[in-house]
Amino acid sequence: MAEAWSQRFDEGLNPFIERFNASIGFDINLLQEDLDCSIAHAQMLGDCGVLTAEEALQLEDGLQKIRHEAESGAFQPSLADEDVHFAVERRLIALLGPLGKKLHTGRSRNDQVGCDLRLWLRRQMDQVESEIKRLQKALFSQSDKHLYTLIPGYTHLQRAQPLSLAHHLLAYIEMLERDRERFLDVRKRVNISPLGAAALAGTSVPIDRQQTASRLGFSGIYMNSLDAVSDRDFAVEFTAASSLLMAHLSRLAEEIIFWASDEFSFVKLSDRCATGSSLMPQKKNPDVPELVRGKCGRVFGHLQGLLTMIKGLPLAYNKDFQEDKEAIFDTVKTIRDCILAMSILLEEGLEFCPDRLLEAVESDFSNATDVADYLVQKGLPFREAYQMVGKVVKYCLEEGILLRDLSIVQWREISNEFSEDIFEKLVPKQVVASRMSEGGTAFERVEQQLDHWRLRLNFGKE
Ligand code: ARG
Repeated sequence: MAEAWSQRFDEGLNPFIERFNASIGFDINLLQEDLDCSIAHAQMLGDCGVLTAEEALQLEDGLQKIRHEAESGAFQPSLADEDVHFAVERRLIALLGPLGKKLHTGRSRNDQVGCDLRLWLRRQMDQVESEIKRLQKALFSQSDKHLYTLIPGYTHLQRAQPLSLAHHLLAYIEMLERDRERFLDVRKRVNISPLGAAALAGTSVPIDRQQTASRLGFSGIYMNSLDAVSDRDFAVEFTAASSLLMAHLSRLAEEIIFWASDEFSFVKLSDRCATGSSLMPQKKNPDVPELVRGKCGRVFGHLQGLLTMIKGLPLAYNKDFQEDKEAIFDTVKTIRDCILAMSILLEEGLEFCPDRLLEAVESDFSNATDVADYLVQKGLPFREAYQMVGKVVKYCLEEGILLRDLSIVQWREISNEFSEDIFEKLVPKQVVASRMSEGGTAFERVEQQLDHWRLRLNFGKE
């Protein structure tokens, strides 16, 4: 190891400390980005006359060769390389001799690692973006099928008012859209180049930071070299956006889990995404949504970990930052896996049970608000109507009957405002159809939402 360092070092590292210090075990993930950044840097050094054009070309060729070696498995960094940056530099020197030693002119691993990580994360986020869209499409397809399927709507997990099932599922598309927007917003700050900030203060080498930034597709450069090498806000922001996404996925997961229980039986899990029990032959378990729900823990943990990691750090680079990578890598892997798992679950892993859902909405008092609204239409103040219907519900509960079981005579005993048309008001489909306010669950309104998302998610029809 000592050979990487200046002549100031006489002795090698203690073997345990060498392992403790190394990040090669995980930052090898950044190999492609490290090569991309180094190629951009070498080209820029050539253009700026710091290196000859020939030297820059040779460096680029050497770096591409390492890329091919990595593909064929011939590039095998070791612990002694410490990290991916040293591993690449060392291999380059082995390939090119003294010229390889010129690559690091005008840069430091501090700006280099920041550059690699941002590039890597930007690429991953672009995948995440389109994967969220796939999940939205899966939700859309289910919604499109179930405009007229009714589902009990809950508050406090108590039956509240019936809904179009499409309406319920479309709520998740909205949540995911906010997630997508949040990631796009975070991407703006991920996509700023720290390269050329060097160790912390900039460099006396006449480099062109704008050039490397635009070669690598960054939208701009950090204006302050200290900020450039000490900013990990983008990592925190990304993990925060990921945490909210996971929270959303876990809410959907939780609903699917109880919908699949015998008590609800609102969905049937297909064999493609459910598992059995090793002991109980009758069981079919919702492992997929349970895992998604459970994996929130690690993503929320990474957010907490990153915040704690940067708290109180003096400017500028500190080795603490090495801890950012595993948190980011694991967050990316976890959210991508969970989005995909939920997509597959919705695409082929479950089927709603419309008959059972109808039975559910027909066997409760979730039409009680509509009786109150009926009286309001007849001129009664809402609070008075509300109290009156409360009494009726109490009576029905005592009798073990539903509102629709009351006769017209009984209704008129309660108030002579009631006439025969009260019965159609009690029909769940009618209850749903009447919620015509903007954003409400009326079929017409939900159809508008479906039209909106059909266009937005590019389902032909544009
Ligand atoms: N492996 C290091 C990291 O992940 C690279 C930067 C090291 N810089 C330094 N000055 N030691 O942060």
